[in-house]
Amino acid sequence: MNKLTCIFISAITMLLIACSSSNSEKVSSPNGKIALNFSLNSEGQPTYTVSFNNKTVIEPSTLGFEFENMPELAKGFKILSAENSNYSGEWEMPWGEQLKVKEEYQMLKVHLQETKAPNRLLNLSFKVFNDGLGFRYEFPEQANLTEALITHENTQFNLGANHDVWWQPGDWELYEQLFHHTKFADIDATQYRNNPDLGATYIPENAVNTPVTMRTTDGLHLSFHEAGLIDYSDMTLKVDTKNFNLISDIVGSDNTTYRVKRTAPFNTPWRTILIAKKAGDLIESRLILNLNEPNKLGDVSWFKPTKYMGIWWEMHLGISTWDMEGTQDMSQFHDGEKKTSKHGATTKNAKRYIDFASKNNIGALLVEGWNTGWEHWIGFEDREGVFDFVTPYPDYDMDEVVRYGREKGVDIIMHHETSAAVRTYEQQQDTAYALMQHYGMHTVKSGYVGPIIPKGEHHHGQFMVNQYNNAAIKAAKYQVAVNAHEPIKPTGLRRTYPNIISREGLRGQEFNAWASDGGNPPSHLPNIAFTRMLAGPIDYTPGIFNIKCEPYKPEAQVNTTLAQQLALYVVIYSPIQMAADLVDSYEGHPAFQFIRDVGVDWNQTKVLNGEVGEFVTIAREERNTGNWFVGSITNEEARDITVNFNFLPNGKTFKATIYKDGEKAHWDDNPTDYVIDKMDITSDTKLDLHLAEGGGFAISILQK
Ligand code: NOJ
Ligand code: CA
Repeated sequence: MNKLTCIFISAITMLLIACSSSNSEKVSSPNGKIALNFSLNSEGQPTYTVSFNNKTVIEPSTLGFEFENMPELAKGFKILSAENSNYSGEWEMPWGEQLKVKEEYQMLKVHLQETKAPNRLLNLSFKVFNDGLGFRYEFPEQANLTEALITHENTQFNLGANHDVWWQPGDWELYEQLFHHTKFADIDATQYRNNPDLGATYIPENAVNTPVTMRTTDGLHLSFHEAGLIDYSDMTLKVDTKNFNLISDIVGSDNTTYRVKRTAPFNTPWRTILIAKKAGDLIESRLILNLNEPNKLGDVSWFKPTKYMGIWWEMHLGISTWDMEGTQDMSQFHDGEKKTSKHGATTKNAKRYIDFASKNNIGALLVEGWNTGWEHWIGFEDREGVFDFVTPYPDYDMDEVVRYGREKGVDIIMHHETSAAVRTYEQQQDTAYALMQHYGMHTVKSGYVGPIIPKGEHHHGQFMVNQYNNAAIKAAKYQVAVNAHEPIKPTGLRRTYPNIISREGLRGQEFNAWASDGGNPPSHLPNIAFTRMLAGPIDYTPGIFNIKCEPYKPEAQVNTTLAQQLALYVVIYSPIQMAADLVDSYEGHPAFQFIRDVGVDWNQTKVLNGEVGEFVTIAREERNTGNWFVGSITNEEARDITVNFNFLPNGKTFKATIYKDGEKAHWDDNPTDYVIDKMDITSDTKLDLHLAEGGGFAISILQK
């Protein structure tokens, strides 16, 4: 069929649909397996259902809004018209889990109007991919709806069954809660309201944060999230445990009675549902990215994916401090005793790390505590105007550190702890990023610890969504890439702004150094891989070798084996990966060779096996070298896994080094028992590997 005929036929189809008096519309995935039905119910309320392989996945679920300044927009609609279209294309990630991303979907756009005054207009766009779908509300320009003060967005996801769910509480302040696995009917987020380890937390409802992942009794996997969170509030999902229904609950502010303020025309973020037979397919999905706009920054080759070290873990272990007087000692937050240790960010200390990094294929060094203001950090309410993002402490010579780093081929990663005093940060952003540009620094780690100033705003409300997004957009002008801690959640904006490289937004490694509840349990990362990681890159900061933290904090420990710490470089994706431990822990350690070798930027990613919350094995091919790396992690359960290397190119022999749990390894009893094996492998090789309780393995597969 030539192009002209094609256009003609689709024009006819569109025309037919437009003229149809029907109250329902359909769209399905390119492979036909996922079908979405849209209709108006008896009250004229927009309603949708979703099926997979002809079985219902989402039962009739209604859509609509409540406002402060006008009547609800939910019922009494008619369909004005509807258009079906499709798209198939491919785009390249400047850095990422893979080079080329296929983008293929069928789309339905429904134009609605209220049948009675004020006759407002609302459009709904649905994009259905082979791996799930996304939909959003579009408010067109119109006379009777200009400013929208949204109090509630009532988007339902009616599951109709009591699925297994991996969820974290719908906290308006942070994503640093643990994930829990329960039946849907047993979700109770409110029990996690008071966590002594979390500086700011607020869980107003029995709601969950996204991504939230589920498994049906048929073994189908679903994960709910959002894409393209711009100028809107983060969506949590209220849990109706009796009716097995989720209802969107967007984050609010204590300063306004509405939760989002927008002026038409505007679109909401995409509400997304991943649908996968195998748990691993969730990880391979790029649907969240595909729902975001293409790259608006153009060439970002000034940002280079890298491994990095940090003047960082030593502060969390209480060996040194961020402030110069040595009073902001992490040990005090752990055992209540205020100590005085020494300043970490000194010129001398930075050079020590640079020397090690430069000899060990580590491209960058993060320096925290370099700037004035830290003596007024944790425990202070009046944090406005305290942090200064351009003035170093007198024992840190930034010119010299940057010069020395350059000489040794190690970049310096800037650190901006805003202490959530965002206006202070905003005022200094231009000067701070300009200083970075002056020094040729291309990455900043930002931090937003504590309750937000202005008071009453929450970390995930519209006000802060704009703060985080605007900081990244501004940073790009100075060729600065951002790794935010205490961030908003990733929603795929890295496609549009590829200087949004990584972020925290989970209970990171640091909790192992100071959480009073014993740190992250072994199931934490097998949970994270199938939940939080579906949203985007994670700055988890792996690679702790001194697992029992002795002699610094004998009461703390990392709840994994050493081999698992290596596996995390492959399993947990980020274009910047920290070698988080101290130089002393790495010096002369045979297992450090894996960290030296492992890639950070990938040509392709394959999930070899896995079950949510239990285990996962991922293989990634490094860009430009053709080397492969495999990582596998397990929860508290030991298990045996067969790795089939048939993902390797045929007819080629590779040099594999396998770092695996020793026979007596155990995350608690014997975490540092590991074995290194070397062998030649090809695409025909199959290997049986044992993972200890809380263990894992890492394999480097290098070109011969
Ligand atoms: C919390 C961050 O997650 C951590 O990495 C950092 O060291 C401290 N805040 C200080 O900014
Ligand atoms: Ca944090």
